[in-house]
Amino acid sequence: MTHVNTIPEAYQIKSPLTLSQFVIEGQLKHWSGPTAEVRSPIQTVNGDCVMQETLVGHVPQMGEKEAVQALKSACEAYDRGRGQWPTMKVGERIKCMEQFVVQMATKRDEIVKLLMWEIGKNLSDSEKEFDRTVEYIYDTIDAYKNLDRESAKFDKVGGVRAHIRRGPLGVVLCLGPYNYPLNETFSLLIPAIIMGNTTIFKPAKFGVLLIAPLLEAFASCFPPGVVNVIFGRGREVASPIMKSGKIDVLALIGHSSSAVALQDLHPNKNRLRLVLGLEAKNPAIILPSADMTQTVSECISGTLSFNGQRCTALKILYVHEDIKEIFLKQFCNKVDELKLGMPWENTLLTPLPEPNKPDYIQSLIDDALSKGAKIMNKKGGERSSNYIFPAVLYPVTEDMKVYHEEQFGPVIPVKSFSDINMPINEMSESNYGQQVSVFGTNTQELAPLIDTLVNLVCRVNLNSACQRGPDVYPFSGRKDSAVSTLSVNDALRAFSIRTFLACKDNEINKSILRTMLQERQSNFVSTDYLL
Ligand code: G3H
Repeated sequence: MTHVNTIPEAYQIKSPLTLSQFVIEGQLKHWSGPTAEVRSPIQTVNGDCVMQETLVGHVPQMGEKEAVQALKSACEAYDRGRGQWPTMKVGERIKCMEQFVVQMATKRDEIVKLLMWEIGKNLSDSEKEFDRTVEYIYDTIDAYKNLDRESAKFDKVGGVRAHIRRGPLGVVLCLGPYNYPLNETFSLLIPAIIMGNTTIFKPAKFGVLLIAPLLEAFASCFPPGVVNVIFGRGREVASPIMKSGKIDVLALIGHSSSAVALQDLHPNKNRLRLVLGLEAKNPAIILPSADMTQTVSECISGTLSFNGQRCTALKILYVHEDIKEIFLKQFCNKVDELKLGMPWENTLLTPLPEPNKPDYIQSLIDDALSKGAKIMNKKGGERSSNYIFPAVLYPVTEDMKVYHEEQFGPVIPVKSFSDINMPINEMSESNYGQQVSVFGTNTQELAPLIDTLVNLVCRVNLNSACQRGPDVYPFSGRKDSAVSTLSVNDALRAFSIRTFLACKDNEINKSILRTMLQERQSNFVSTDYLL
């Protein structure tokens, strides 16, 4: 609980904000229909008034009608590939994106403040999320220029000339997660837009108000219908859009259950491309040769940055029997030293945005305790209405819920092993396959382990916590953890398809091509070199 007077001026929200606009057909439209309250996990006291969940604003609750309008707007802008945006010169599309990012950069303070209030992310992580997103956009622009330069040529094989480029796929539905409502959503939306697709974007369940400062830029920087932004519950707005069969790409970062349900609504699944970042249960494997100080420090940030609400968080720790005691002792001490505070105080632990999360984490703890685990740290499981202090649970067994479920919150299951085949077997049986962290210094032991682990997950982190970044590196997963690969470069490929002009290499065709190129008649057939 914090007194409003103690909140630094720059981070105060004096009165609830009302988001009453949305974007369809390139216009900022006014919403006068039903709204939903946005409640912050931050509890405040103002005089006699105690706000258990501070009201930070209201957002539109749209329904099928607006969803269908957004879809119509995106379809008309794409116009079956004939629209202004999908046929535009790459350089022109890049100019629109450059205008957008310049306008976006001016909204940093507003967005950072809302990230803190809406999802409880601490100040430095909120700033990082914003800055990383701006950098992602600039990197995407550079990557697209590179891609375009590589395509600015003609191939000739077997007497056939070819001008091969990447073209858009059509209409993209973008749905992001609440833990990175800006960065992860934009890591889908930005490459989708720049490749010439038209888009419908619905923000996540939390982190909605923070999109408001960007609506004007979305409406003004791109041609009408290229970016449509609507608000509401997924079931009410995303379902009718998927049922229409007019979506070409479902781009979602979230849970596989939502991805599968939405995919199932599409009447022509074979036409639907999936770009999905899904759940994970990344393990840490701690070997006897591990440097204990470094391992403990990486496991703290790996398990508990943003309270463990990251798809890349370490969600189970496998510790070798020989070092189990020393690891648990040092790790538990460090966990208990962590402070729970307000986001602007930059503590690692901050209030949880999902009101039911403390109860859920409690249920995982209770289940584990009833099946033989113990809470190893003194403060583990201490409750307040919007938080539950991280509990280190040991020994965890396969019959416990916390072993299987992606906790996405502050609880840390630990298992010990004496045979390395044990964690390897469990990883290969697991439904997840995103990343792993391996801690050790003995190369004889590490090398064969890495050779196996790279085939079970998509990134092996040596003596470091799992993470997505830097965003130029591939971010993917096996099994239930992802479909497709994201990175600055890979995302451009995920949201496009190779398409080309081919012709027999004869004089008539050569003359046609020469004229088209010299007179710059085509936006697609072009050897212009983008600087
Ligand atoms: O929630 C999953 C995010 O992709 C994690 O990204 O590793 O940068 O926190 P991060």
